[in-house]
Amino acid sequence: MLIRKRRVGEGDILSSEITPYELYLDRRRFIAQGAAVGAVVLPSTLAGRVPGALYTQQVEEPTPYEDITTYNNFYEFGSQKGDPARYSGDFKPLPWSVVVDGECDNPGTLALEDLLQGHEVVERTYRLRCVEAWSMVIPWRGVRLRDVLLRAQPNSDARFVEMTTVLRPSEMPGQRHPMLPWPYVEGLRMDEAFNDLTLLATGIYGKDLLNQNGAPLRLVVPWKYGFKSVKSIVRIRFTREMPLNTWQEMAPHEYGFYANVNPDVDHPRWSQARERRIGEFRRRMTLAFNGYAEQVAHMYRGMDLTRWY
Ligand code: MTE
Repeated sequence: MLIRKRRVGEGDILSSEITPYELYLDRRRFIAQGAAVGAVVLPSTLAGRVPGALYTQQVEEPTPYEDITTYNNFYEFGSQKGDPARYSGDFKPLPWSVVVDGECDNPGTLALEDLLQGHEVVERTYRLRCVEAWSMVIPWRGVRLRDVLLRAQPNSDARFVEMTTVLRPSEMPGQRHPMLPWPYVEGLRMDEAFNDLTLLATGIYGKDLLNQNGAPLRLVVPWKYGFKSVKSIVRIRFTREMPLNTWQEMAPHEYGFYANVNPDVDHPRWSQARERRIGEFRRRMTLAFNGYAEQVAHMYRGMDLTRWY
């Protein structure tokens, strides 16, 4: 992320449900062949179990694992893209627990295994488009956020969901400096959180998340700028009020609550019309809602998206 002031920056998943890395690659090749006759990219293991699922509108090769795990934004480990991979070695993602509280009838503190217990594991390839105008194609593994939320039984006052990253300066060197107001916080409106596309990810490329990618649990909201995808989540809270997210708190004129990918609304200091896919030189046109308009545009009907950026 670019900011103005200074240059800063498995629980119980069945092993049978996890695609081995080699099989994953084989399946990608198979899907790529299907693409030649007009198939769409379907999520891998569960493609047959999700009727009508369409997660990327174009056939795209996933970004290499090496790039996804070495070109990161995770300011808790530093503001440079290589810092999270370099400085996250001391971070201990297990054991892990998550507090679920706020406006709900079934709050609690759950071990990660219990939080995930019983929920369908999904694998989906989504584009991640950063507000800095680069993008990646990432094969995620996780569960639907809505499945986790439903178990907490949100009450009628729950209008938003706030998610918070762990605060552990002893293991996260970036948190020893006031680069950002720690801990990192993000939020979604309830309908966004309940959208079928919204995931709590536990892995990429069929492997558990590495620390730099937000181990052991991160949010994935493919139609929003990457900064919405809060990493290493320790708290999920239902709120009446719209949560103030970290980047909005840092620079409210530059970063809003909604953060929908929108090529028509430029960042105050640079255009959002195009993006560079990591590993490519050419710039591509950025798609409205990052290409997921069909699944999500209805949630914003009637809203002025230049105001609610
Ligand atoms: N979550 C936390 N806790 N801290 C961060 O600095 N950066 C965000 C988001 N989640 C960030 C975070 C930004 S700006 C982006 S673009 C994505 O994580 C990057 O995810 P990736 O590094 O796995 O590609």
